[in-house]
Amino acid sequence: MSIALAIVGVSVLGTWGIATISLIAGGIILMVAPADIETTSSGTAVGIFLLITGLISGGLMQVIAMPLMGIDPPIPMKAKNIVPHDRMKGWANAGSLRSFPDGVAKEVRLRSERVAIVRQGEEVYAMGALCPHARLPLGSFPGAPIKPEEIRDGCVMCPFHGARFEVSSGKAVRQPFSSEFNSNHPFLGQFQSKLFFWNKGAEDIQTYPVRIENDEVMVGLPR
Ligand code: FES
Repeated sequence: MSIALAIVGVSVLGTWGIATISLIAGGIILMVAPADIETTSSGTAVGIFLLITGLISGGLMQVIAMPLMGIDPPIPMKAKNIVPHDRMKGWANAGSLRSFPDGVAKEVRLRSERVAIVRQGEEVYAMGALCPHARLPLGSFPGAPIKPEEIRDGCVMCPFHGARFEVSSGKAVRQPFSSEFNSNHPFLGQFQSKLFFWNKGAEDIQTYPVRIENDEVMVGLPR
């Protein structure tokens, strides 16, 4: 994608997103704010209308506009679809060991798979690049102000809503919107937990077998 196209896309999505959030916030304010007794019912009706319009607008943005830009819709991924390692027999070269930053997830595309490579010193792990909660990238978006989080206690944390996954097993060890995350992230946590009222869980994430050959990181993929 060219830079100009990316700027246009981000501008459109940004404007659309702000309009959507404004509609939802305006609707909620009209519904809950105290009003004159004679205008309360009409204010509530307008509030409901704005809220529904905002939710529809947000839904259309996420299932139509964002996929057109290569961003997956925020539909949760199920652990039942995880492929076991013994079926990962197609090995692909992800790059040289030192090309991966120490302690931070970096996304690579291997064939059609989006894979996050996590290096901790000489240890390397590979896992799905998209968080099972809402399919946002664990390594964030290139150039985005939201940066990938450092690996802590053997776990990667999704920078968007704070779910944590063990890098060796893919096990979800903390769910999105924990009270700790929300108190440190008023917008991504506290505010977005309201928008994600329909989806607050994260199941385990896919992992991939890894081996190092001549300092190159080889990742096993489903054939
Ligand atoms: S997308 Fe990762 S916790 Fe929400």
